[in-house]
Amino acid sequence: MASYSQGCLILVGILVTLSLPYSHAFWGNENKIQTAVFVSPKFVLGPGSVENRFYYNVDFPKGHIAVKSFDAEVIDEAGNPIPLHETYLHHWVVIRYYVRKGVEISEFDNPRKFNESDYISGRNSGICQNLGQFFGLGSETRKTSTHVPNPYGIEVGNPAEIPSGFEEQWMLNVHAIDTRGAEDKLGCTECRCDLYNITVDEYGRPLRPDYKGGLLCCYDHTQCKVKHGFEAVRRTLYLRYTVKWVDMDRSVLPVKIYIFDITDSWKRSRSSTGIIAEHECKVEYDIESCDATGMGDDGCIDTRRISLDMPFGGYLIYGVAHQHSGGTGSALYREDGQLMCSSLPTYGEGEEPGNEAGYIVGMTTCYPKPGTVEISKGETLILESNYSRIRHHTGVMGLFYILVADKLPKPMQALHTVVQTQDSIMVVTILWAAVALIGVVAVIAVAVHYRLKREGEDGYEAIGM
Ligand SMILES: *[C@@H]1O[C@H](CO)[C@@H](O)[C@H](O)[C@H]1NC(C)=O
Ligand SMILES: *[C@@H]1O[C@H](CO)[C@@H](O)[C@H](O)[C@H]1NC(C)=O
Ligand SMILES: *[C@@H]1O[C@H](CO)[C@@H](O)[C@H](O)[C@H]1NC(C)=O
Repeated sequence: MASYSQGCLILVGILVTLSLPYSHAFWGNENKIQTAVFVSPKFVLGPGSVENRFYYNVDFPKGHIAVKSFDAEVIDEAGNPIPLHETYLHHWVVIRYYVRKGVEISEFDNPRKFNESDYISGRNSGICQNLGQFFGLGSETRKTSTHVPNPYGIEVGNPAEIPSGFEEQWMLNVHAIDTRGAEDKLGCTECRCDLYNITVDEYGRPLRPDYKGGLLCCYDHTQCKVKHGFEAVRRTLYLRYTVKWVDMDRSVLPVKIYIFDITDSWKRSRSSTGIIAEHECKVEYDIESCDATGMGDDGCIDTRRISLDMPFGGYLIYGVAHQHSGGTGSALYREDGQLMCSSLPTYGEGEEPGNEAGYIVGMTTCYPKPGTVEISKGETLILESNYSRIRHHTGVMGLFYILVADKLPKPMQALHTVVQTQDSIMVVTILWAAVALIGVVAVIAVAVHYRLKREGEDGYEAIGM
């Protein structure tokens, strides 16, 4: 029966077409991750030279979005990744700010010249005054996961948060050191003042006599000592950065960014509240070698620990530490010693980009199952940063970057097992309701058809369908 079979095909067709847009919408909402790859303005490095540049108004995805990951690496003009033993990436950081509409900020503007009334910082949620970045890593950038798990994201471009009359923009700071031909590659990467022949800082102020190395000695356009007679071409390089994001909607839960620093001089006092203004973070410190102080019973490991009171509460979603060569791991503990999150360095073993021997090429990250690690407001956490003392180090770092969510996905609060948002469950319910309804309609249609057929010639073919 041709007409009957056609009817069935049409019904099946309707079912399929009805379910397709729904399933697309469903997966689209959850998984439609968009990706953009950008390159920074170029920087040019010759053997021993340093670039520490601040690029304003850099490319960044537009609109009200939730960033899912932010990865970066140094490349040359042909797009080839450059290994750390040639160009050491001390750090890159990405900072948000708001600028009055109509005020032009060019890539290379000096922030000091902006009129304060035209420029508003859009920093992270804390807790160091001077570490306001949203994203940022160093030599470990190629093998460190920056992914924010579902249903979370780093919300940016929220019109409700942008001060009226202002627009949101992004600044990228890239600090890179060319160590080709360096007399002491590690010394150059650790910004040892003697190798840079530096006694005054960037602004001409004399350095403390005990300042042996660190950022104050490898500022923009300083020069590290190169082997006598070594020559190599100056090269044009870029930071290539890849941003993944989803459009912000009710299915995405925002996370807040907090950065802790092992050199934070914060001390609890009767009046302390733990707010940003109380946290003075020196960012860098030195490691004495164990032959200077004797082996001791520390196993030649420098362990630093500080206690910090959390001025916020929420659920830990992601954590990662930043250390320099010599680092052996960092962790966050609760006051009773319970491990909350640890991040350990991966050292390279070869020559190629992403695996350079002697350099930290990745940091492990922690992704607690959402909802399992809660930080209470006012809770004291312990930050720990370990370094090997086999040799002396200057300008090392011990930062810890965490993402914290205020909320858990709604079904998780109720069921603890379903990792889906209310929204997507709604869509699925509607989909199944639609399918069931169409099914009922189909059965009625078949029954009616069958009866009509029976009443007509013969009813057998209908059974064969
Ligand atoms: C900054 O802007 C304000 C208001 O537009 C103006 O009154 C002030 O003179 C400006 N300051 C400088 C240093 O340009
Ligand atoms: C180091 O700096 C001093 C003072 O700035 C200068 O006189 C001297 O020539 C420099 N040495 C080298 C090796 O560049
Ligand atoms: C740091 O070193 C101490 C002492 O050696 C050790 O107990 C601790 O587990 C280390 N922590 C990390 C995160 O490696």
